[in-house]
Parts: sequence; C-alpha cells; structure tokens
Amino acid sequence: ADVKKIAVIAGDGIGPEVVAEAEKVLKRTEEVFGYRFETEHALFGGIAIDEKGTPLPEETLTVCKNADAVLLGAVGGPKWDNNSKELRPETGLLGIRKALGLFSNLRPAVVFDCLKDASTLKPEVLEGTDLMVVRELTGGIYFGEKFRRESAQGEEAVDTCAYNVAEVERIVRQAFEIAQGRRKKLASVDKANVLETSRLWREVVNRVAPDYPDVELEHVLVDNCAMQLLRRPASFDVIVTENMFGDILSDEAAMLTGSIGMLASASLGEGSFGLYEPVHGSAPDIAGQGLANPIATILSLALMFRTTFGYAEGADAIEEAVANVLNAGHRTSDIAVDKSKAISTTEMGDLIVAAIQKKA
Ligand code: NAD
Ligand code: IPM
Ligand code: MN
Repeated sequence: ADVKKIAVIAGDGIGPEVVAEAEKVLKRTEEVFGYRFETEHALFGGIAIDEKGTPLPEETLTVCKNADAVLLGAVGGPKWDNNSKELRPETGLLGIRKALGLFSNLRPAVVFDCLKDASTLKPEVLEGTDLMVVRELTGGIYFGEKFRRESAQGEEAVDTCAYNVAEVERIVRQAFEIAQGRRKKLASVDKANVLETSRLWREVVNRVAPDYPDVELEHVLVDNCAMQLLRRPASFDVIVTENMFGDILSDEAAMLTGSIGMLASASLGEGSFGLYEPVHGSAPDIAGQGLANPIATILSLALMFRTTFGYAEGADAIEEAVANVLNAGHRTSDIAVDKSKAISTTEMGDLIVAAIQKKA
C-alpha cells in the first residue's frame, strides 16, 4: 500500500494525552486494514515557545507541508496567557491555519443515541440531531488589524473585522456542496442587521444560491441561531458562518452531543490536504489526570481517513468502534452520568482500539 505521511502535533495540556490515543487507533488500522502511515512529530504551541522561542517553529511548518495530513491535539494554557501576542500558543494556531491555507473548518455535531442522557438538554429535544458547522477559518476579526491607541478616555484597543467577496464565496460554495451531500438544508448565519461584513456575506450567499437550487436556504441572525440551536437542534443540517460566530456556535453545538470532548473537526483548503483536531482546547483544569475524553481526537482521525485519504472503510470502522464502546456503556467522566464509574483516557482509547474490526 502507499504510505501516507501524517504530521503529529500534540501541543499542550491534554493535547498529548488525546493524541496518544488517536495514534494507537492509527496503528490498529494498519494491522486491520493494511494501511501504512509514517508519522512525524513536531513541536507546536506553548511547548514550542518554551523549547524554541516561538509557538510555530519554521521546521514544524515544514513537517506539516511535507505531510499528507496533520493531526493536532490542542494548545494553550495559563503559563503563556500573559505573553505578548507573538508569544502566545493561540497565535501559532491562527498562523498554522493561515500558512496552510485552511479556510474551511468542518465541525460535525452528531448526537449518539446512547448519549442523549449525557447532555444537559432534554433527550426529546436532541432526538435526530445531526448537524455540521462550516466555519470560515482564515478571515474576519481573528485576522484583521489589531492595535492599541490613546483616546480621550485613556488607552483604547481595536480589532478590525474584514471579509472580501472571494473569501465569503469559497466557503459558502463549499457549504452548499456539503449540504447537497446531506439533507440539503443550509442555514447561513450572520449579523446583517448590524455588521457591514455580514451584509456582504448575505449578498454573496444570495448571489450564489441559485447555483444550488436543490438546497433549501435560510438566513439566521447569530443571536437567534444561538437560541434555535438549543430549541430545535434537529432541524439544522448545515450551518455556514464566519470565523468568530463559528467558533462560538460550535462550542454550543458540542453540548448537544453531551460534551466538547466529543466534537471532531477538519480544517481544509482547496486540495485534499487537511488538518484534523478536536474542537476543544488544552483543558488545563484536567490535564495530566487521565480524565480527558479522547473521542473528539479519534473521530478527527476518522474524518482524516475519509476526507484526505479516501479510506472510507477505516473511517467507518473507527466511528463504529466508538459507537459500540459507547453503546456498551463505557464513559469518560465528561459524559458519565455516574461519575464513579467513569474510565480514564487510556482505558477509553484501548476499548476503541480493541473494537476496531473489518466488516465480515
Ligand atoms: P477547553 O476546551 O480547553 O476546556 C473547556 C472545558 O471543557 C474545561 O472544563 C475542560 O476540562 C473541558 N474539556 C475540554 N476538552 C475535554 C475533553 N477532551 N474531555 C473532557 N473534558 C474536556 O477551553 P478553555 O478552558 O476555554 O481553554 C483552555 C486553553 O485551550 C486556552 O489556552 C485556550 O486558548 C486553548 N484552546 C485551544 C484550542 C485548540 O488548540 N484548538 C481550542 C480551544 C481552546
Ligand atoms: C478553536 C479555538 C481557537 C479558535 C483559539 C484557541 C485560537 O477556540 O479552535 O476553536 O478560536 O479558533
Ligand atoms: Mn473554539
């Protein structure tokens, strides 16, 4: 078989703990399906600041560029929270997305039946929830000019939000195409009643919509969307939105699934290359205690298989293994109703590894 190269970036906090479990899954799929992977580890985030003086060392970027896909844990932590912008782990994360041209961030939120009781929402509200947040990832207020200045009332901080037509059009077209492959419903989320970037966003959506006549389109204001996500989550199919709204709404969507520890993501550009990471962060509050749920990272690996490698069989097997382990009642503490019965990060990883099998 041909060898797929994967850059592995564990990062900080629970990053290394969850990535280690995904790597076990990777090995297991080599045995079961005959895939061949070559992994190369690279420093990134806070640990890279400590060891190399920068969150995104040049050699890490090179390792990523030479790979077919990147597996990322999470970065950040209190140790670096008061650093200047250039020396923040999060700046490295924005930098790697930009440098690799990953403008599209797919965040599927699927409610496993057996986890309906793990959510803070009522099970009947969650019934049938299966949505995909398509988040614009390399524009908007995250990447606009930022500065401080003196004002008559003292120091003032400025963040600018900009979007051009091309940036909006490529993400919106991708979202329409994703909707065509699903239940053919697209909610475009903006704040067009206030923001100029949102008015442009909506214009672009309306201009390209006729190219996708089979997709039912609705425009939803972001504040209303935040509410509707809790009121009628199952009615959403694909949600497309700008960078910061997508960041916030996807964490909200995570709680439909029971825990942020369940939410996977794929960050894509024009080609098949992709960066795959859990939606959650480095969770400093539970780091080093074996409490982290590795499922978001393991499901991100399944997205990598399907999206970048075209390994549908392996992707299905990983997802089925996760479902089977959950159905058997195994829970890390974030999704456990009875916390006293919760299992550890590595126990969850081992169970999923053992459940991966070829279909008869
Ligand atoms: P977080 O996602 O790290 O944690 C939020 C809460 O969810 C915490 O209580 C945490 O314990 C819990 N949680 C997160 N992942 C979990 C998992 N896999 N299993 C069980 N529980 C889990 O968000 P935060 O606390 O706001 O941020 C912490 C740090 O992570 C910050 O430095 C932030 O900048 C960074 N961050 C990084 C990424 C990334 O690398 N992609 C994403 C978000 C936040
Ligand atoms: C995420 C994170 C990042 C973001 C932060 C850490 C920069 O919250 O990946 O969702 O806001 O994009
Ligand atoms: Mn986030």
